[in-house]
Amino acid sequence: MGYLKSVTFTMIKPDAVKKGHIGGILDMILQNDFKILAMKWTQLSLKQAGDFYLIHKERPFYQELINFMSSAPIVVAILEKENAVIDFRKLIGNTDPAKADAGTIRKKFASSIGENAIHGSDSDENAQIESNFFFSSMERFRICNAHT
Ligand code: CMP
Repeated sequence: MGYLKSVTFTMIKPDAVKKGHIGGILDMILQNDFKILAMKWTQLSLKQAGDFYLIHKERPFYQELINFMSSAPIVVAILEKENAVIDFRKLIGNTDPAKADAGTIRKKFASSIGENAIHGSDSDENAQIESNFFFSSMERFRICNAHT
């Protein structure tokens, strides 16, 4: 019997991109059995970063966050796996890399709570909203082969 797959959305953030960690981060994602459904290299405008993080508008770090997120290119992707949202948040680790467990992406690649290398959706609903922010249905693909 098959199992229920679900999706999450991720961004490799400007700090990780500028330090050359795209390959290292994608390797950890793939080694942990996430499948890529969609992926692109892009850069957010300040307005787009503001819209993406609108939920944090009242937070004191909002302006800093959207300045940072629009400061350089990012890699965005939709990932598929059983329990994708929960398992991906385990893989990326605590928002603050100082509190992240060993073996997590943020422990390995992030430098601060603001410049924390990677984003992962916090719910199935937000995974859909965030995926739709970046990708049309024509940009999503599944790899099919005889053994899966
Ligand atoms: P992310 O998972 O992308 O979701 C919201 C982001 O806000 C979070 O990662 C952090 O990068 C950022 N953030 C959260 N708390 C702070 C903070 N205290 N100072 C600066 N940025 C923060």
